[in-house]
Amino acid sequence: MSGLIYLDSGSTSFPKPEEVYAYMDYFHRNFGVNPGRSGYDLCLEAGAIVDDTRKALTAFFNGTDYNRLCFSYNSTDALNLIIFGMLRFGDHAISTTIEHNSVLRPLYHLSREGVEVDYVPFDDAGFVAPDEIRKRFRPNTRLVIVSHASNVVGTVQPVREIGRHCREAGIPFAIDASQSAGKIPIDVEDQFLDIVAFTGHKSLLGPTGIGGLYVREGIEIRHTRAGGTGVRSAERAHLDEYPFRLEYGTHNTVGIAGLSAGLKWILSKGLDAIHEHEMKLARILRDGLSAIPGVTLYCQQDLADHIAVLAFNVDGMDAGDVGMMLDVDYNIASRTGLHCAPLVHEQLGTARIRGAVRFGIGPFNTEEHVLAAVGAVREIASLKNR
Ligand SMILES: Cc1ncc(COP(=O)(O)O)c(C=O)c1O
Repeated sequence: MSGLIYLDSGSTSFPKPEEVYAYMDYFHRNFGVNPGRSGYDLCLEAGAIVDDTRKALTAFFNGTDYNRLCFSYNSTDALNLIIFGMLRFGDHAISTTIEHNSVLRPLYHLSREGVEVDYVPFDDAGFVAPDEIRKRFRPNTRLVIVSHASNVVGTVQPVREIGRHCREAGIPFAIDASQSAGKIPIDVEDQFLDIVAFTGHKSLLGPTGIGGLYVREGIEIRHTRAGGTGVRSAERAHLDEYPFRLEYGTHNTVGIAGLSAGLKWILSKGLDAIHEHEMKLARILRDGLSAIPGVTLYCQQDLADHIAVLAFNVDGMDAGDVGMMLDVDYNIASRTGLHCAPLVHEQLGTARIRGAVRFGIGPFNTEEHVLAAVGAVREIASLKNR
């Protein structure tokens, strides 16, 4: 929409780099057959593009075996595969109160089927203490699962320390990298990560409908779905080897193509440069919003270990109303409400006032965008005092 200031990158990245649109179109027109299902040249070429994307993503996460990079439809799908494929009656799992519903809800359903779950709260600055996780380890703890970067308060959790504790105790450790993949480095070796769940349409700059998970060697996830894999069709049971174990049916190949172009764009610009640009804008936004009387920001002052996601409220105003005014009067896109993270808002005390307003900054945002947002919030907040 012309003139729209898009500050909703926490929901999805928009726009995508031109290269993503162009490559999806090119791929669909030239390679839009079903990869891995037949032996003719085009099919093999399409399969090679899928495999190249597995390899590129595996390298991006510093994994070692690209067959353990499985595609899914988004991170919710990947997280369901992990949680339902690793836990069963009598098991114990540890997670946190900073999670998105795509972790909380699968865990909730399993907790009604005899899986015990501990949720470690985050501290006032928005961080989960690795020691608080370690203290909850039990002999039957089968999974620790933590959101790498919060989609509400933007904090990046100390996953390396959590991973080290888990590795020492022999407990599988999974991260929900929905908000972090494509924004900050993820290194399965250095950070002691066993499983990384990611989504393609946020900071990886791909389209919707594609995501996946990387599963380190030695970690086993049971398959909880079954179906066609394109190979060894005579076998009655779903295939056991990765990536087939966790993949079912025809891939979203156009999505995979778009994701590969998004990843290439990120690598060409440099992850650090993108993050630096976004954080520079986040600091301008923080300074501007925190100077407005009656605005409460839910972030720590120095924005250390942070992604460019900021949530706030205007005292005495409903977050939904503020979001509506930003949209209707200023053409600024934000996200309001509970952000699918109800326990975060419960802990912040914002659940009872129906959540907060969230700005999410992406690589195509500019200083003008964030200054316009600050100006708009200032005017909206001043209405309250009239
Ligand atoms: C932290 C977090 N986890 C999971 C998800 C779910 O992502 P998707 O809708 O792509 O499955 C989101 C999306 O908002 C998120 O922010």
